Amino acid sequence: MAYGLQEFCGDASAILKGEGSIHSRLDAVAAKLSGLLRNDAFVKATFSADTPAGKRELYHDPDLDYYVLAHVQEGGKRGTPHSHGASWAIYGNINGATRMREYVRTNPESEDGAVLKKSAEYDLRGGDTKAYGPGFIHSTEHPETCWVIRVTGTDLDQIERFRFRKLKDKVLEEA
Ligand SMILES: [Fe+2]
Repeated sequence: MAYGLQEFCGDASAILKGEGSIHSRLDAVAAKLSGLLRNDAFVKATFSADTPAGKRELYHDPDLDYYVLAHVQEGGKRGTPHSHGASWAIYGNINGATRMREYVRTNPESEDGAVLKKSAEYDLRGGDTKAYGPGFIHSTEHPETCWVIRVTGTDLDQIERFRFRKLKDKVLEEA
């Protein structure tokens, strides 16, 4: 049987409730997500060429509070650096690419403006997934329109997290 949304959510719940560090559990969920992204029946049931840009909730776990979200990302857009606060997120591409940039903060948290240095840059393409743990700063860019599944540890819009402020924060692109 193909690996569908129900199987993925069952596995994700079991892994998240299991043993091991949060990072090893998130990596294990990310590996399972790759299987879901490669399931043509799931992709067909979730997206079509005329699905509008934006986000839809596919699943919310009432116990663990994680969400599985389907995004149509519009091409030519680049987001600002952010973290997921005390929560986490796993990104996975079905098609196209998410250009991911990772950053480290180079000055103390006690200083008002954040100075970020880019530490990595790579593309997530069809079937690729990656987990970003609590506090991890990154940004996304979508050179062309693409379909993305994102799993988040909670409703990220409701928690305090790092968001880039154009007037106060800055990015040193390379070391
Ligand atoms: Fe993110």
